[in-house]
Order: sequence, then C-alpha cells, then structure tokens
Amino acid sequence: MSMPKVIAIHSYKGGTGKSIIATNLTTIFSEKKDSCVLDLDFRAPSLHITFHQQVGKARWINDYLDAKCEAKEVVSDATEVASKGSRVYVGLANPSMTAIREMLAKDRRWEMVALNRLNNLVDYLLNQKTEYVVIDTSPGIHYSSINAAVVADKVLVVTTHDESDIDGTAKMIKEMYELIERPIEIVMNRVPAQIIAENGAKEYAQKIEDRLGAKVVGVIPCSCDILATERKEILAKTKPQHEFVKHLENIAQKI
Ligand SMILES: Nc1ncnc2c1ncn2[C@@H]1O[C@H](COP(=O)(O)OP(=O)(O)O)[C@@H](O)[C@H]1O
Ligand SMILES: [Mg+2]
Repeated sequence: MSMPKVIAIHSYKGGTGKSIIATNLTTIFSEKKDSCVLDLDFRAPSLHITFHQQVGKARWINDYLDAKCEAKEVVSDATEVASKGSRVYVGLANPSMTAIREMLAKDRRWEMVALNRLNNLVDYLLNQKTEYVVIDTSPGIHYSSINAAVVADKVLVVTTHDESDIDGTAKMIKEMYELIERPIEIVMNRVPAQIIAENGAKEYAQKIEDRLGAKVVGVIPCSCDILATERKEILAKTKPQHEFVKHLENIAQKI
C-alpha cells in the first residue's frame, strides 16, 4: 500500500487528544516533508489557539466550504510556529459563536457540496507539494467528521481508557466506518500509567484490538504536564524528548 498522505484524526468522545495529536503529528511529519493541518472541528475549534499568529492571515475553512473564497486563500504559512525543517501550513476554523451556530445549522445538501469542496482543498494542497495533510475533526458521527474521513487515506481514531469511550468507539466503528470503508487505526491516549504498568503496553493494546477489531498503533500514557502547556506550544517542536512526542513519532513511523 502506498503511504497515506491525508490523515483524519477522529474520536467518539471529545477531549481524547485529537487536536494536540493532529498538531504534533504535523510537526513530526514536517521533519521530512511539507505538511498541513486543517481544523475541521467547527463545533469546538481549537487550532486558532496554538496558531494564534496565523489568525487573520487567511480565510476561515468555514468560508471556503461556504464557497465564499478559493482554496488558495484558506491556508497560511505556520513554518515558524510548527516546523521541524520543511514547511508547515495551517487552515483554521472560525471560533466565533456565530460561526459555530451557523455550522450547526447546515443541512445534508450543504454537507454534500462541502465534501466536494473539501476534496478540492486537499487536492489543491497535495498539488502544491504538501506531502501530508492532517485533518482535525469533531468527535462523534457528524457530517463534517464523516466528510473528513471520506477524503482521508487513513483515519486515526483516538480513544481513552474510559469504558464509555471504548464502548462508543466500538459502535462507531461498526456503524460508521464499516459503511464508509475507510482504513482506521486506533490510538489509545491519556491512559493511566498504572493501567499500562499492570497490563503491559503490548498486552493492553492486544486487548483493545480484540475488542475493537482494529489495529492499535499507539498506547500513550497520561502526562499531566501536557495540560500545563495550555496549547501554547507544540511539544514536538519545543520538547522533542517528551514521552508524548516519542509515542507520536512511533505512530508516525507505523502509519
Ligand atoms: N497524553 C495526554 N496526557 C495528558 N493530557 C493530555 C494528553 N493528551 C491530551 N491531553 C489533554 O487533554 C485535553 C484535550 O485534548 P485535545 O487535543 O483538545 O482533545 P480533543 O481535540 O479530542 O477534544 C487537553 O487539555 C490536552 O492537553
Ligand atoms: Mg479538538
């Protein structure tokens, strides 16, 4: 199989670590190739915090999907903030309450046009020599997340150790991913160190694989100091030795 270039990061529940994984993976990819991260979580945008320097430098992805601007107007250069060598681009979701409300009110017809436009945006980026496009999504089964999964070569589904999360992820895989036939892999995140120590990381991953019927590409422990960064820094750039980064580098190798 050829290397996946478009990777969507999805989850059943919110707060599993999608956004932080999306930004850090993009930075890791940028060590070798030009990369881009897109915020498609229109319900709870978050990349504008990490990429606050890029706010106002390009149009929102919302405007692009609404056919108010062109693909080339949506991404801005974030090399200085996020790169480990090559160029990094970012496309942001509009975090205003009005924009969030507007996106919540979109109907199925609009979402079908949006899927086509998202596809064109990704094609535009890949034609611009961007090798990796990472898409951050909304949790659960929403059109925008399904659209992201449909345009992706691979979906990383992030889940925590929480039973309601694992249970919901299992249902989501059955009801959504088996229908759209996208290849998915599982990342366990924020796993208590105690659980990893008691089970062994490999055995723990195996248990989850058996339960979800999908490959587990990483078991990332919970590290409280990640919260302390308040999203202002990208650990893959500022603290490359951090265990969170080491786990993501390992995942980047596997996908
Ligand atoms: N491995 C981890 N250990 C500790 N905190 C984490 C870890 N991964 C993510 N977090 C924290 O969890 C919160 C949710 O992460 P975020 O990336 O916003 O999730 P999502 O995008 O899925 O809602 C953030 O405060 C983040 O710093
Ligand atoms: Mg998020």
